[in-house]
Amino acid sequence: MRLVIVSNRVTVPERSEKAAAGGLAVALREALEKQGGLWFGWSGAISEGTSHPVRTIQRGKVTYAVTDLSEAERQSYYLGFSNRALWPLMHYRLGLTEFSRTDYTGYLAVNRRFAKALIALLEPDDVIWIHDYHLIPLAAELRRRGVTNRIGYFHHIPWPPSEVFGALPFSSTLISTIASYDLVGMQTVVDVRNLISGLEAMCGAKSDGRKVRVGRRETVIQAFPIGIDVEAFRKLAAASVRSATTPLKTAKESLGARKLVVGVDRLDYSKGIVQRLEAFGQFLRSHPEHRGSVSMLQIAPPSRSDVPEYAELDRQSDETAGRLNAALGEFDWTPIRVVKKAYSRNALAGFYRRAQVGLVTPMRDGMNLVAKEYIAAQDPLDPGVLVLSRFAGAAQQMGEALIVNPYDTHGVAEAIRTALAMPKSERIRRFEALYATIDATDIDWWTKRYLDALSGIDMGLPDVAPP
Ligand code: F6P
Repeated sequence: MRLVIVSNRVTVPERSEKAAAGGLAVALREALEKQGGLWFGWSGAISEGTSHPVRTIQRGKVTYAVTDLSEAERQSYYLGFSNRALWPLMHYRLGLTEFSRTDYTGYLAVNRRFAKALIALLEPDDVIWIHDYHLIPLAAELRRRGVTNRIGYFHHIPWPPSEVFGALPFSSTLISTIASYDLVGMQTVVDVRNLISGLEAMCGAKSDGRKVRVGRRETVIQAFPIGIDVEAFRKLAAASVRSATTPLKTAKESLGARKLVVGVDRLDYSKGIVQRLEAFGQFLRSHPEHRGSVSMLQIAPPSRSDVPEYAELDRQSDETAGRLNAALGEFDWTPIRVVKKAYSRNALAGFYRRAQVGLVTPMRDGMNLVAKEYIAAQDPLDPGVLVLSRFAGAAQQMGEALIVNPYDTHGVAEAIRTALAMPKSERIRRFEALYATIDATDIDWWTKRYLDALSGIDMGLPDVAPP
């Protein structure tokens, strides 16, 4: 049985490149390397012309098969429908959802093109595992062309209730394509519930718990909360303490004895970065005794900058940090540092370890792996405290964090104060419970559990495309 992974972006590793620690891409690569397999998707490059050939690159037992997008496809499929319609919609942000028929047509066309290209590479026993919202209709396109292989899908982001999802034009057509999968993995049981009730309401599906029947097809929909490589991340963080060259050493010099509150996110409105900066400002206003003795570091590498809502967020976060620093800072103390660049995983592990508080306060998030990385990086004898949004999927597993509502600025400000004042015995108690959870459900657990379920699905059902 060969595993075939399909995702929007595919990064082909350099010939000599060792797997970096952690991350979904690394976990999937490892799963492929163990048994051999194929990884198909967008190369990340743009090229023009009528045909977009598929390039195959062999690395050990893994074949990478990549194709470019045209600029028009990038605009409609990736920036347009995936990231201006589906992304905000799935994150419950109807006000930011921009639907365009041209973008939707482009999205379907790229899924069709990917299906045709993939079919040429498929073997009869392949098990196909498709990832994320860019590729929801891909299985339907494959089924329409006669593919009867097992096909699974994992949805990495939230799935909203049908009152929200239904606002998308053509939402019933799109959701009906879910029925072409044998197994659909979601991050949380809330997402499972929303997807199943959407299928019932919009496609007349019948369900008995996790099995959903649409027409003659049966699909299993189940929660598989994604994890991280806990052991690798723990080791990185421990090593950062000993290393003389990591940014952690520089951070120590620059921060001195000051306490550190850290946030790490792609610069994305779903992450609640502006609201978090405001909450830190509120904390300093409500508790002036902390001024000068605590700093906040927000690492926010820019993301999808061609999408207007992201450019606006970039402007807002600069404005908020600048305003708060001007109002609250001192000549020898800058309360907030926003750093808009990506750091290595080594450096991040060091920052997490140094920080007394990890602020993970998305307005909505599928899982949020920063919450898990922050815990994995802590010193077990003197751990920091995780402040976690109740709207992150991670909150359903990580109840021993300080759970907050990111819309409540004063509430988050008070949680920061509670975290900074928490006695060591309580910090250790919470840390141990959280560590045990993330360790028991790490990335290997996730990959194995999903693939075992996908290969165990009863395939006696006819493989027909949904109406
Ligand atoms: O699941 C969220 C996701 O869209 C992933 O598919 C992707 O790896 C990540 O966010 C970064 O997004 P992008 O590929 O648009 O930069």
